[in-house]
Amino acid sequence: MSVKPWLQRYSTGIQSIDAHHEELLGRMDALYGAIIKGYDAKAVEGLIANVIDVTIDHFAAEEKDMNRVGYDKQVEHGASHQEFRTRLLKLRDDARKGVKVGTDTLDLLNQYLTDHIKAHDLPLAKAMGA
Ligand SMILES: [Fe+2]
Ligand SMILES: [Fe+2]
Repeated sequence: MSVKPWLQRYSTGIQSIDAHHEELLGRMDALYGAIIKGYDAKAVEGLIANVIDVTIDHFAAEEKDMNRVGYDKQVEHGASHQEFRTRLLKLRDDARKGVKVGTDTLDLLNQYLTDHIKAHDLPLAKAMGA
């Protein structure tokens, strides 16, 4: 069953960023699919950890890019990353505690990420020469 339509994709034009976004959205999609299929809490927790892993790598890469090009909106962009990381870690902690993760929570995360890409990543990509 494909759940792809719940995700919106944006191309920034910077290959390294787009590849990370694709990986991140793919992992979120896998998590979404597992919740819909009613996978057990342990499996869901593992899939959340997969999302966290690529998120941490991706945000670190963008933050490095921002430093390299002397990006003037680093602080706001970094704060938005921090908020998303915090939400993901809370989701993992909830899953560990046995709190059921619903698709509504993932919809909110997806919306946050979509807004982030539009508000922060697209301008960064432009500053990087996209
Ligand atoms: Fe970003
Ligand atoms: Fe990004």
